[in-house]
Amino acid sequence: MNPADYEFCCRFLEERSGLSLGENKGYLLEGRLVPIAKANGLADLSALVSAVRRSPNGPLADAMIEAMTTNETLFFRDKTPFEELKATILPPMLEARANTRRLRIWSAAASTGQEAYSLAIMLHDSFPQLADWRLEIVGTDLSQAALERARSGVYSQFEVQRGLPIQTLVKHFQQTPAGWKIQDHLRRGISFQLLNLMKPFQILGVFDIIFCRNVLIYFESPLKRDILERMERQLAPDGCVILGAAETVLGVTDRFERSIGCRAPIYVPKARIAIKSA
Ligand SMILES: C[S@@+](CC[C@H](N)C(=O)[O-])C[C@H]1O[C@@H](n2cnc3c(N)ncnc32)[C@H](O)[C@@H]1O
Repeated sequence: MNPADYEFCCRFLEERSGLSLGENKGYLLEGRLVPIAKANGLADLSALVSAVRRSPNGPLADAMIEAMTTNETLFFRDKTPFEELKATILPPMLEARANTRRLRIWSAAASTGQEAYSLAIMLHDSFPQLADWRLEIVGTDLSQAALERARSGVYSQFEVQRGLPIQTLVKHFQQTPAGWKIQDHLRRGISFQLLNLMKPFQILGVFDIIFCRNVLIYFESPLKRDILERMERQLAPDGCVILGAAETVLGVTDRFERSIGCRAPIYVPKARIAIKSA
């Protein structure tokens, strides 16, 4: 692809979705965008770039952003965060909320929904007392296609085999001609909505736990910092943010600290640690 088109794509994608491609990713753009060009009757990638330049808010621009998102996810991804939530984080958190009986969790970058449904399964199976709580799990993502799949709650054999023990599958899913469908009791309190993390998100309200996993890796440091610090402002005082296994706040923001005793990248606001140890 020609350097001017490459430069345009990099700038456009970073401005609109945060994705920082860096150098020499022409092969990635070709692989993901040529099918979009073809599907829209355009001769090649260059023609697609010209169309997006002419109409940067049009449907082809949206299709280009969508095609460049990486939606890889699986049930109970990395296991440890779910185990540590269950054993360490949630018991005192639920005790502290025994009066309000309200728990709010945000799966930011929810992709096709496996993270949100894994949480629902874990909460249902390990904390039956939540049955009459106001439990909310809000899944958000930039990708409409991923969100549609998340809302459908239907997964292929391949997808359910990735991360779901067979007993959990049989207990919480129903086999349908379209695939394995999550049962209604687990959908209670779960919603999915479109949200670009680059844009303001105060409207979502305050959360007790924020999952922000495997999305910040695609962004440059200033954007990671901005997102994490805005998330901190939307955390309950005893809340936490959970990052992906390969992600850290180190070198990004000093407003969080690793939750004491956790192996998973679970972070709490630093001010809280200072207050606790004072
Ligand atoms: C690799 S998936 C991670 C899914 C899940 N959190 C996990 O760890 O398994 C990354 C998701 O981030 C979403 N994403 C990328 N840029 C985003 C942005 N600016 N705002 C919101 N979501 C974004 C993508 O659409 C994709 O579904």
